[in-house]
Amino acid sequence: MSDISDEELASLNRAIFNRYGMDFSNYEPISFKRRVARVISRYQLENSIGLWRKILSDGQFIYTFIDEITVGLTEMFRNHEFWLRMRSDILLQFQPRSSLRIWHAGCSTGEEVYSMAILLLEEDLIHKVKVVATDLNSQSVQLATAGTFSGMYMGAYQKNYRAAGGKKTLEAYYTPEGDAMRFNKIPRQNFKFYQHNLVKDPMTERFDIIFCRNVMIYFDEVLKLNVLRLFHQCLPAGGFFVIGFYDAMPDGYRQYFELYDPNTKTYRKV
Ligand SMILES: C[S@@+](CC[C@H](N)C(=O)[O-])C[C@H]1O[C@@H](n2cnc3c(N)ncnc32)[C@H](O)[C@@H]1O
Repeated sequence: MSDISDEELASLNRAIFNRYGMDFSNYEPISFKRRVARVISRYQLENSIGLWRKILSDGQFIYTFIDEITVGLTEMFRNHEFWLRMRSDILLQFQPRSSLRIWHAGCSTGEEVYSMAILLLEEDLIHKVKVVATDLNSQSVQLATAGTFSGMYMGAYQKNYRAAGGKKTLEAYYTPEGDAMRFNKIPRQNFKFYQHNLVKDPMTERFDIIFCRNVMIYFDEVLKLNVLRLFHQCLPAGGFFVIGFYDAMPDGYRQYFELYDPNTKTYRKV
């Protein structure tokens, strides 16, 4: 794989920003460089200039590039300990309330959203919930909206679901369509899916719980703090904020959030 210098990366980022308004300049440089190098080799582009040309000359390729860079790896009920805690503690705190607003920031293809929706249904909260699910990658958002996942993973998801305290079987929530499973047995009138870039787009809605799991892993410290500020604005005091098991909060996060549960990486707004 080709080595990419900081200068090459900076000019690539500038070109993408000028042309498409997408800013990757605060993505964590080591993994960003690794991914850019992988795109260069996978699409036989020789070097970063070849990539730069391809991105500028082929308006569709920018989406392929985003796909490759953002790697939307996800699964249903990922890290079942987290979902158990969500079910047995956090959601119970919303039982007496009349409404519950949730934002899945960086939802990828939606597996996390449908996992949470199943919990909301099983804990009898679905009728009072409003859910917003967003991602930078518009193809992922389309897939998340459809709620159709490959049947290949259902065995693993079923196991995760059970470990997460699942009350039925996953079959209760989907209809098979060829090799895929469409999760169409969950009421979704109050679910909105749309493209949103955490780096630059504002968010005017307000939430009680924000998920941003396995997204900040790609951001440097400056960008993480900017994004935390955005989440802080969108939550009431005491509102919940959840990150992924491998995510790390930036130095200085304590002015915005306090740790609620270290085992599930859950925080509350201060
Ligand atoms: C590894 S997936 C995480 C999916 C899900 N939250 C989970 O934990 O299973 C990371 C997602 O972050 C999204 N992402 C990366 N940069 C983003 C940005 N600037 N704004 C919004 N989403 C972003 C990617 O497109 C990708 O779908």
